[in-house]
Amino acid sequence: MYSLIIQTRAISSAGSEHLPYKQGVTGSNPVSPTEKPPSIGGFFNYLIEQYITMDIHRTKHWEKVYETKAPNQVSWTQEYPKTSFEIIQSFDLPKTVRIIDVGGGDSKLVDCLLDAGYENITVLDISEKALLRVQYRLGEKASKVNWIVSDIIKFKPETSFDIWHDRAAFHFLTEEDEISQYLALASSCVKGYLSIGTFSKLGPVKCSGLNILQYSKEELISAFSSGFNFLDSKTEDHTTPFGTTQNFLFCSFKKNRIIF
Ligand SMILES: C[S@@+](CC[C@H](N)C(=O)[O-])C[C@H]1O[C@@H](n2cnc3c(N)ncnc32)[C@H](O)[C@@H]1O
Repeated sequence: MYSLIIQTRAISSAGSEHLPYKQGVTGSNPVSPTEKPPSIGGFFNYLIEQYITMDIHRTKHWEKVYETKAPNQVSWTQEYPKTSFEIIQSFDLPKTVRIIDVGGGDSKLVDCLLDAGYENITVLDISEKALLRVQYRLGEKASKVNWIVSDIIKFKPETSFDIWHDRAAFHFLTEEDEISQYLALASSCVKGYLSIGTFSKLGPVKCSGLNILQYSKEELISAFSSGFNFLDSKTEDHTTPFGTTQNFLFCSFKKNRIIF
């Protein structure tokens, strides 16, 4: 598997080739979340360190998940990501468009997109292990995909995207400032369409043991309203590998082209 990782190259939309890389690399010397803030002079640094600590915890959580659990041991696994794939196809764009799957994990959406002939796919996830798993599954085909290991709120895109897809990653952002950063990023780098899937108000309140934010259709539309026009919505009962159901809400949007 290791040699495959080394061999797997991603081709950026600019045409340059590079190995899977990390963005938003966390800093050193984090403080415990329970530690008392230092003096007022150091308060700003303390806030930064708390932020870094949160990022480390999040990364560790997801790396552990993908290290210890098989796809049939996590609730979100889909043999065929039908709804996501159908939404992307409904945008009716050429196969050359730039697509990003945010928090793609080891989803088979990338397999479907490659099989359908999409040529410019990026999969981003906070977990390197998740992406390595997909690269291993795809074999040679992995070299046709851009792989990005990054916390989405630290992501500094080098290109814009025509389609932004996110199933069950956005809803892990529970802090106002993180949600704002996600929305600002999506608004700035999406030039076409956006598809977001979250747990609905009828869905679970946690995912992978972490708190999530459930969304109603109105809340999701409102969250993305400053950058996007609402297109369509759909709820879906996802059957988990354990036979339980989780109610998802998917909303799709088109970039609002009004520039202020
Ligand atoms: C519930 S899983 C969903 C995976 C995939 N989208 C699917 O539908 O099968 C959530 C995924 O989001 C990733 N993730 C969570 N928080 C993230 C963040 N802040 N930035 C990037 N990826 C994140 C996790 O590593 C995980 O792969």
